[in-house]
Amino acid sequence: MKIFLDTANLDQIKEAASWGILDGVTTNPTLVSKENMKFEDLIKKICQVVPGPVSVECVSTASKDIINEARGLAKLAENVAVKIPINLEGLKATKVLSQEGIKVNTTLIFSSNQALLAAKAGTAFVSPFIGRLDDISHEGMGLVDEIMAIFNNYGFATEVIVASIRHPLHVVEAAMTGADIATIPFGVLEKMVKHPLTDIGMERFLKDWEKVKR
Ligand code: E4P
Repeated sequence: MKIFLDTANLDQIKEAASWGILDGVTTNPTLVSKENMKFEDLIKKICQVVPGPVSVECVSTASKDIINEARGLAKLAENVAVKIPINLEGLKATKVLSQEGIKVNTTLIFSSNQALLAAKAGTAFVSPFIGRLDDISHEGMGLVDEIMAIFNNYGFATEVIVASIRHPLHVVEAAMTGADIATIPFGVLEKMVKHPLTDIGMERFLKDWEKVKR
């Protein structure tokens, strides 16, 4: 499973990249709004740090405007993938942009039918938001299972990004579904490496090492 970082924070991106596990980044308007930097400069910098896809969201709502905005975003760096929310205008834009070779990440996916339509329109990625479904008492990971089954049935090349991840167990569950990618907040990524028994084991080994005659 590829690991993307779900943030627009450059320090977090640089840190995660230094761990050798980072395959890409996803941003959205909310994440970008938290950074005190000019939007285009921020995206260019992120794209320099991360060799893999960096998702950047379009905020236009009519297909013609989405297409123009996406073409502009794609020019910022070679590894930009444009994020487009799923709706009819977004689908129309997705068809045009994917035919031009621009990678689209269809976002705000909450049903497998939305994912199916996005895949048919040629999107490179779909992003089901599992945490937001869990938040309203729907089983988010069930949606990922459905999408994976549908994409496997028909051999769609579209990759599934498990998004809106809230905790490390979500990552385990995402990997168990066989999803292509999980996009993970930095805090969750940090928790994934930790285990109290590892800390206790390390402490004991270091203490015992002091007793070794040298
Ligand atoms: C990723 O593409 C999404 O923007 C992100 O995972 C949304 O997460 P949230 O539901 O925690 O805002």
